[in-house]
Amino acid sequence: MTEFKKEDHPIEESKFHNKAAVGEAEDTSEEKILQQHVKDYIEELLPVHQGLLKELENYAETHSVPIIQREVAELLKVLVKTAGAEKILEIGTAIGYSAMIMAEAMESGGKIVTLERSEKMVALAKKNIQRGGYSDRIQIIPGDALETLHFLPGGYDLIFMDGGKGHYREMLDLAISLLKPGGLLVSDNILYKGMVSSEELVKRRKRTIVHRMRAYLEYITRHKELTTSIIPIGDGVALSYKKR
Ligand SMILES: C[S@@+](CC[C@H](N)C(=O)[O-])C[C@H]1O[C@@H](n2cnc3c(N)ncnc32)[C@H](O)[C@@H]1O
Repeated sequence: MTEFKKEDHPIEESKFHNKAAVGEAEDTSEEKILQQHVKDYIEELLPVHQGLLKELENYAETHSVPIIQREVAELLKVLVKTAGAEKILEIGTAIGYSAMIMAEAMESGGKIVTLERSEKMVALAKKNIQRGGYSDRIQIIPGDALETLHFLPGGYDLIFMDGGKGHYREMLDLAISLLKPGGLLVSDNILYKGMVSSEELVKRRKRTIVHRMRAYLEYITRHKELTTSIIPIGDGVALSYKKR
């Protein structure tokens, strides 16, 4: 079984399930991106998932699997619908939660390819996707995305970057080349518990990831082919439109 690296699965010791609240138990990192009362208010407004999605949210919490936060799930649904996305690529499947959120938001006939390097997660995601009835729409490609990305045909309407945070920059050029002109790159965790915007918040063992994420953000905000907006919800989301 493939081992998790700390940076890919950073909440093992945490009682929280959402990715902004990972790491140290005393960390009140959610407030480091969005004030807690604003976050709470937004969460109260969000529809509550039922059935399998709710079950996966509970599983993620109990087993410390980092999945997208609820407000990011709603953002993804809106993006998939407004982009009319029919071909989606996801980097980082975990238990298949965000893939199913996007599949649900897609028009029928749409397809999602999702890349995952952990054998354990691949097995769990397969089971969940089958249970959700999405096996015809979601294809999991096992293996390290740094390798599997090279073999994909391209032409994606939307790419969701949610694999190892320390490797976003390495995957970026390929991801951009796989995106259609007019397509959307969505990158999650880009403010990483507020550490990316404040040197004072950076935990020593997270320094490399934080520096790499800053380099990534500088690159996507200055890239000639992209128009990028940074949204401080969840753990920080960047939306990059690939110019036509
Ligand atoms: C944050 S989780 C993905 C969560 C998922 N998108 C969701 O919200 O339901 C990140 C996942 O990316 C996987 N991962 C990390 N680095 C990867 C890589 N280089 N190639 C493929 N998968 C990777 C990890 O094993 C982990 O399951």
